[in-house]
Amino acid sequence: MVKCSRCKKPAFTKLARHNASFCEECFELFFSRQVNEAIKKYRMFHKTEPVLLGVSGGKDSMSLWHYLHRSGYQVVGIHFDLGIGEYSYLSRKIAEDFAQSYALPLQIIALSETIGYSIPQIAQRIRHRSPCSLCGSIKRYLLNQFAFSNHFTVYATGHNLDDETATLLGNVLHWQTDYLAHQNPSLPSPHPKMPRKVKPFYSLTEEEISLYARIKEIPFITEPCPLSKKAKSLNYKEALNLLEKYSPGTKHNFFFGFLEKASQLFSSHGEVVLKGCEICGMPTTQKTCSFCKIMQKVHERKDDHVHSRTE
Ligand code: FES
Ligand code: ZN
Repeated sequence: MVKCSRCKKPAFTKLARHNASFCEECFELFFSRQVNEAIKKYRMFHKTEPVLLGVSGGKDSMSLWHYLHRSGYQVVGIHFDLGIGEYSYLSRKIAEDFAQSYALPLQIIALSETIGYSIPQIAQRIRHRSPCSLCGSIKRYLLNQFAFSNHFTVYATGHNLDDETATLLGNVLHWQTDYLAHQNPSLPSPHPKMPRKVKPFYSLTEEEISLYARIKEIPFITEPCPLSKKAKSLNYKEALNLLEKYSPGTKHNFFFGFLEKASQLFSSHGEVVLKGCEICGMPTTQKTCSFCKIMQKVHERKDDHVHSRTE
């Protein structure tokens, strides 16, 4: 029988990248240490600071919500209802039910109500950009706006080591040096209207977070977003999983090696200047922010529809 590397009781899991086996109790200890160390090392937040947490309904954000709440942090969940059929209905329900059963504050931002359109409706009107990239821009914008008007200074997400290595691989393959400069578990606020962004799960793998969710019986949506099926990051994850299978620790070394040895090489390029969008006043590098550009196009297309119907 495989024994726990720490206490010698029967093990329930083996973590190849750490070359260790754990019983349930010791796994939890390992898990807590990873998260606490991440929070401390990158000075992400402290217990008296309200943390806004992006809750998608997936295992990572739900587990992070559970963990932070249980550890005594002041967390407010924010969930975007994107209007993507059954997927959005289920993920919203999971977030709402969880908030209710633990009496946790949760802010729902339903796109159809807030901006008048769901993601599929926007994607139908703007075809030259992928739905995922439109969705990302819109969520980022609404998030910054909510955080600013409600005085949140820090925003946390459930991104894990698999997400970070996949992003890193994509950024390296395309030599996206600007993105490489901003790939960090903790990003300072670039503007008073934007919170700093932190990823307390950056050192944990998907597998480890799934184990935590299972032990704690945390509900989550297992289906991926139906619009993200073609996302390149899924191919990168697959490639990295293959490498990890033959050489456990590959992802860890790739990402931690980047943070320790390479990330600073990309940080020194000229600072970006953020000014107020001429339409909405939110920070942007251009005259008009990307959200306002999207909405302008959506409205133009709406007019197109009206004209073609009345002609
Ligand atoms: Fe945004 Fe799928 S979650 S497009
Ligand atoms: Zn704007």
